[in-house]
Amino acid sequence: MLGSGSDSMRTLFTTNGAGVLNEFEPVTLDCLEQLDPSKYCGLNMCAAHPLTDAETSISYNIGFSLVLTGLKYNVIRISPPTTGQDGKDQLKKSKTICSIPTQWTTSLSFLHSFGMTRNFIIFIEQPLTINLSKMLNSSVRGKQEAFKDWLEWKSDATVRFFIIDKISGRLMNKSVSIVSSELFFFLHFINAFDDAFENEIVVDLSTYENADVILGSSNLLSHVRKPVCSWMNRNAEGELLQRSPKTMRFRIPLEGLGIDIRSGYIKESGSKVTEPSLTVVPELVISKGGLELATINRNFAGKPYQYFYASGLMSQGVFRNTLCKVDVVRKEATPIKISDSYIFGEPIFTSSKEANEEDDGILIVPMTDLRKTEPDMLFFFNAKDMNEIARAIFNNWIAPAIHGIYLPN
Ligand SMILES: [Fe+2]
Repeated sequence: MLGSGSDSMRTLFTTNGAGVLNEFEPVTLDCLEQLDPSKYCGLNMCAAHPLTDAETSISYNIGFSLVLTGLKYNVIRISPPTTGQDGKDQLKKSKTICSIPTQWTTSLSFLHSFGMTRNFIIFIEQPLTINLSKMLNSSVRGKQEAFKDWLEWKSDATVRFFIIDKISGRLMNKSVSIVSSELFFFLHFINAFDDAFENEIVVDLSTYENADVILGSSNLLSHVRKPVCSWMNRNAEGELLQRSPKTMRFRIPLEGLGIDIRSGYIKESGSKVTEPSLTVVPELVISKGGLELATINRNFAGKPYQYFYASGLMSQGVFRNTLCKVDVVRKEATPIKISDSYIFGEPIFTSSKEANEEDDGILIVPMTDLRKTEPDMLFFFNAKDMNEIARAIFNNWIAPAIHGIYLPN
């Protein structure tokens, strides 16, 4: 959502994996205009999950531009709207604050989400890549190809972390390569925050061993049109693929970058940067995998937090068909299962008006029933004890595994 506070100026967009923006009408949900992001903010493709700083109302996104000066990821800053500005005006005023070169000559990392803490933007370059030669070739020759046809998994690549100062746009690890000890694919950040006590950045992600969740056959229309139970990913031989994401925590020490955030703000640490490379070893937040579409109390976005809520979707394992509350401090998971035929979508946390604790609020959760004869529903849970409060029965189907937004009226 962009634009100034008044309803007439507020602009709502949907985004997708290919970075296309579609404006829509919030009451009727009618599609309005499809926006080419290159004309509005100079990006040919951008992440599907832009972020807005709650304190400053400044929004950020990361994408790339197809320019002759080399392949780079650009971080853009979208200033808060001035009176009378709608979302499109706001986008046009966006500025590139940081450019980061890729590790390849003709490919760029698949972009879906990034992290933001009090002081930093965190961008992760991952081994699922967009092959630009294929993409341009397809455009020039007018081939009937999908975005998926240009994606490639590079098993010899490294996962690289980039830390950017939110205010100045300075790349904080220009002289230090921060790499993960494990190769992984991810779609979603759960949260990220500055740990001033330890002088490190903490990043929580839902990670996969590879990108089969995107590249696997389950995304083909021929599979989607089959009964919903056959949606699980299978490889070319028809074997079921394990697509259970793991909840992983990465701690990035800042001392090695010559940075000190113990005061809460970025300072030079005074120590000389001597190591050109820093390897980050992830730790499991909970031992069992299978949780995706995690959400948190947004008041804790970019800050130390204790809880996230996520769906087990149709993963293989203990979280299948569940909605789950995870305590990342105690490393405990509380899964709620109502029926083997229910698939919960992305939960949305709405904070109580008089909240005293992080989990004082209500979870709004879409549910798709695998049985065609049974209705889909919207569930309401008390986030504190995960007891069901209410359910709203829908007469039409709710697509499974969707994102959503909550707009207070
Ligand atoms: Fe997403």
